[in-house]
This record gives sequence, structure tokens and C-alpha cells, in this order.
Amino acid sequence: NRDFLIAPSILSADFARLGEEVDRVLAAGADIVHFDVMDNHYVPNLTIGPMVCEALRKHGVTAPIDAHLMVKPVDRLIGDFIDAGASYITFHPEASEHIDRSLQLIRSGGCKAGLVFNPATPLSYLDYVMDKVDMILLMSVNPGFGGQAFIPGTLDKLREARRRIDASGRDIRLEIDGGVKVDNIAEIARAGADTFVAGSAVFGAGRDGDPNHYDSVIRAF
Ligand code: DX5
Ligand code: ZN
Repeated sequence: NRDFLIAPSILSADFARLGEEVDRVLAAGADIVHFDVMDNHYVPNLTIGPMVCEALRKHGVTAPIDAHLMVKPVDRLIGDFIDAGASYITFHPEASEHIDRSLQLIRSGGCKAGLVFNPATPLSYLDYVMDKVDMILLMSVNPGFGGQAFIPGTLDKLREARRRIDASGRDIRLEIDGGVKVDNIAEIARAGADTFVAGSAVFGAGRDGDPNHYDSVIRAF
């Protein structure tokens, strides 16, 4: 019985009221703030960077911030996110020229390090760095946008990732990102995930006019 953590993705939050949105999901019981960084190069969309992460810290957010870097190259932004107060920093192995170096860079800044796997990216990238990761993030959609449908083949991949983590005997979080909803989260948990990113399910349709929306979704998870 591992502990389950909920990580709302602020990608679907109202950016004009970001501090308030984050406060509200954390008050509703969320555990981690999932922070999607897109560069219009590695992925076809452009979002937020280290200045916004720093602003959330200045606003008073003390919960772990999980910076999901969908950027290429990654190394310079790793330093910026360490300085900006990120807790976890994850990156896509295809976007780093030197994966081992990037992982070491994250850890040397006192952050937890993770690798992110796109739906078609093999888990074999873990083979020689299992001792340097604190998190494995499996994408269950192609990265770039919120609100896409969960790709079912990810369930088998979760089982394989769970086997690798158990065999390593190490304390590594297994995070899932993309299309997580109230009606599929139990199945995803059974396949081995312990950390659940949810963007549109939390911040999307239904929140307007319902002051208890965040509480009801997070409780339903
Ligand atoms: C997609 C992002 C996700 C996204 C998930 O590239 O990494 O974190 O916000 O959004 P939903 O939960 O709507 O699929
Ligand atoms: Zn993400």
C-alpha cells in the first residue's frame, strides 16, 4: 500500500488568477503543483517559465512544485528552475544531449530528478541511470496540450515501469500525465502509478459557478 499523490496541472488553470487557483486546489487536498513548461520547439506550444515558478513561491506556495520541462535543450533551464524553487524537475531524455549529466545537475541543486517518457519512448532509457532518478513520469498523451484522451497502451507501460522500480528496491515515484479523469484513475492506480497529474479534470469544465468544484474532484480521486 503505497501513498497516492494528486498533482493538478496548472496548464488548465486561469493564468490571470494563478496564485488563487493554486491556493484553492491545495486547500482542496492536492499534494503537488504540476508545472508544465513548453518552449514551442520541443513541443508545439508555449507556456510558462521559471519566473512564474518563483512568483508562486513568493506568493506563499510551500507545496512541492513538479516542473515538467518540455524544452530542448534542457540544461540551462534546470539551473533556473532550481533557483526558482522547484522541488521536482523532470525532462524528456530525447531533449537532453547528456541525460546522466542533466540528472546530476538537478540533484546537485538539491531537487528531485525525473525522466519523462512520451507514449512511444522506450523505458530502456532508464537502464543505466536508475540510481539517479527519483521520479519516472509516463506520458499517456503526446505532450503539448491539455485535454487530450488517455492512450490505453500506457497501462502496460505502467506495469513495466512498476516492475523496474520494484526490482530496483529504490524509492522512485511513478507519475502519470495526460487524460487522467475521475473515471479512469482507479485503473491507472492498479497498473502501478502512485502520482497522478490532472489538468482539465481539475481546472476545466464544471468549475464555473460551482464553488466546491475543486473539493469534489479531488475528493473523487
Ligand atoms: C501535456 C501536459 C499535461 C497536461 C495534462 O503536455 O504535460 O500535464 O496539462 O492535461 P490533462 O489532464 O487535461 O490531460
Ligand atoms: Zn505535464
